[in-house]
Amino acid sequence: MKILIVGSGGREHALGWKLAQSPLVTEIMSTPGNPGLAALGRTFSLKVEQAAEIAALAAREQVDLVVIGPESAAAAGLADQLQMLGIPCFGPSKAAAELEASKAFMKEFSVRHGVPTAEYKVFDDAIRAKAYLGDREPPFVIKADGLAAGKGVIIAETRAAADEAINEILFLRKFGTAGQRIVIEDFLPGEEASFFALCDGETAIPLIAAQDHKRAYDGDKGPNTGGMGAYSPAPVFTDAMRDLTMERIILPTLRGMKEEGRPFVGVLFAGLMISADGPKLIEFNVRFGDPECQTLMRRMKSDLAPILLAAAKGELANAAPIEWDARPSVTVVYAAQGYPDEPLTGSVIRGLAQADQVDGVVVFHAGTREDEEGNLRAAGGRVLNVTAIGDDLRQAVTRAYDAVFRIDWPGGFCRRDIAWRALD
Ligand code: AMP
Ligand code: GLY
Repeated sequence: MKILIVGSGGREHALGWKLAQSPLVTEIMSTPGNPGLAALGRTFSLKVEQAAEIAALAAREQVDLVVIGPESAAAAGLADQLQMLGIPCFGPSKAAAELEASKAFMKEFSVRHGVPTAEYKVFDDAIRAKAYLGDREPPFVIKADGLAAGKGVIIAETRAAADEAINEILFLRKFGTAGQRIVIEDFLPGEEASFFALCDGETAIPLIAAQDHKRAYDGDKGPNTGGMGAYSPAPVFTDAMRDLTMERIILPTLRGMKEEGRPFVGVLFAGLMISADGPKLIEFNVRFGDPECQTLMRRMKSDLAPILLAAAKGELANAAPIEWDARPSVTVVYAAQGYPDEPLTGSVIRGLAQADQVDGVVVFHAGTREDEEGNLRAAGGRVLNVTAIGDDLRQAVTRAYDAVFRIDWPGGFCRRDIAWRALD
């Protein structure tokens, strides 16, 4: 199999790392890729939104499977372009990607199909939105409708802060056109988990859960980010919780999407709040989580290539069950100073080879680049993902931080408390 991976983050490097272990895979290509992916095969310079050009590349290279990493590629219609050319694609069509690309769509869909989620209302008018707050209790959850790189959610403790958030999104267009509409929803108490299921349009098979750390600094302080670290399994997500999530959230969604003419192919990522009466849906993503994916790939024992191909071809019903390493894994995100607001790029990173030598550790590249002299430099916000597996979570965490401290990178910072909830 020749596989083309679309994307350039730690998630895509982890998928490439896993796929490269498959005896079925002869070549891994990526676009635009990163230095980690470049070590696995050729990279191309097409951006993930260049759907038609990527489809043409896949045809020219006679690729057997395209794997979509980020939602922006799906929302740009890459799967639709590939379908016209008859090239198998792991990832949703533009119409199916609406589950992530529009929070209003996702909420209305959830109501239509009985998926448990927070009470909400959609607004494009600030006066009506503010009036609605009068009937609700704080904290208020205010979300830009569209894609805002994980930053479009504001949790306001007071009316004044909520009013300001509404002004910022609807009037000042803080999130651009993603904020033409907003969703205001009730705050859900509980503990969060990220759960993943593979879908082929008809059949869904459960993967496993992970827990992410969204805030930038230790103790869950600071601004929201794309994710500063993750671990798997998530103790709050028991087998019983998984079964409830499949029954109440994943399967009704897959059925509903098919009925509505938007069959969902790819990985359905349910961001969940775990409460006493079961899982509640916070959001859907139409892709693997980043950095959750890195922890999942570290634990997957089965060959990923035939599973993704079966999902792309609508053949998951016949797929063998997926096997997982029982040992826990953890990913520490090493980010550039200043992330998430203004990451300082360009600083030199040394010592990756020493870090990779720690037992059980793999360092995935995210926002890195190699300069002309062969130095590795920071080229984005989240730069490296130090991923470790261990006999227990404590060992995995110790190994990951042991590797982090071998990396010589004064321009970076990471949280020192990844997995604290599960270690306490
Ligand atoms: P999202 O981008 O929708 O995942 O939201 C970002 C973060 O905001 C989530 O990971 C939650 O921590 C928080 N959040 C979003 N919606 C809610 C809600 N209804 N209740 C409580 N927390 C929420
Ligand atoms: N880590 C959360 C996400 O990928 O959306």
